[in-house]
Amino acid sequence: MKDLLYLKDLRKDEINEILDLSDHYLNSKSPHEFGNLLKNQSIANLFFEPSTRTSASFQVAAKRLGAETIIIDEKKSSATKGETILDTIRNLKAMGVKAFIIRTGDKNLFKPLIKDMGSDTHLISAGESSISHPTQGLLDLLTIRQEKGSFEDLKVVIMGDISHSRVARSLMEGLDIMNTKNVTLISPEEFKPEMRFFQSANYEKDPKKGLSDADVIVTLRVQKERIESSENSLSLEQYSNHYQLSEDKLGLCKPDAIVMHPGPMNRGIEISDHVADGKQSVILKQVENGVAVRMAVLTQILN
Ligand code: CP
Repeated sequence: MKDLLYLKDLRKDEINEILDLSDHYLNSKSPHEFGNLLKNQSIANLFFEPSTRTSASFQVAAKRLGAETIIIDEKKSSATKGETILDTIRNLKAMGVKAFIIRTGDKNLFKPLIKDMGSDTHLISAGESSISHPTQGLLDLLTIRQEKGSFEDLKVVIMGDISHSRVARSLMEGLDIMNTKNVTLISPEEFKPEMRFFQSANYEKDPKKGLSDADVIVTLRVQKERIESSENSLSLEQYSNHYQLSEDKLGLCKPDAIVMHPGPMNRGIEISDHVADGKQSVILKQVENGVAVRMAVLTQILN
């Protein structure tokens, strides 16, 4: 694996290898056990959209593997003086940086960047607009595999603002590769995605119908930052009345269903406090898994 931009570029055995390696890191008795694997390597975090979990967990992952992370804050960088991302990367490459972890809202950034990179430079997407978030997809798969053992016979429900969600796109790519037979998308018409990206999934507007017998439910935030005011007439109050994952709605799923959320959560809108903090929630386990998955991705790419 040279770069990681889209889960659909990986084969099932490659995904299983990353998940197995992530479990191996999680089962380690000491977080310092792997501190030599990427010793003396330099990794750059370039985040052109806000992040808490992805940015921090890539930093923790790099440190546990012995690499150093250079953090470029767009607002304090020479991007404010007109430097292009390509020039920023070329300059960091000249300093010996081998891997670039990039989050961008620009749908046309990665293709030209990939062309410009040599064989010794690696790109990892930390989130590309509403298109892709591959390491989130991998940590979601890891969490589902740990909790449910396998993927094939599960009913996985993704509920919320699916049309703006890179998390939903990457998870769908991953679930398809792992042969999950029943993926159901639930959203109001306003957040229905382009179904060509979800060809094997079912779509349902009514949560009561879509949630029945679910094994896994992934709730998604309403991405206000990606919604034009003219595009959507649905108020957050209307949305939460119908689509909030509340105790009642969770009761429609299987009794051992797990509740997932990529974060950040908007409590009281897409998910109730009670469900977010309840015993079926694996939301913080996803975050813990995020460090291990990112360690595995960095190792597969750089070691
Ligand atoms: N899940 C996720 O991408 O969270 P951040 O935006 O905080 O990185």
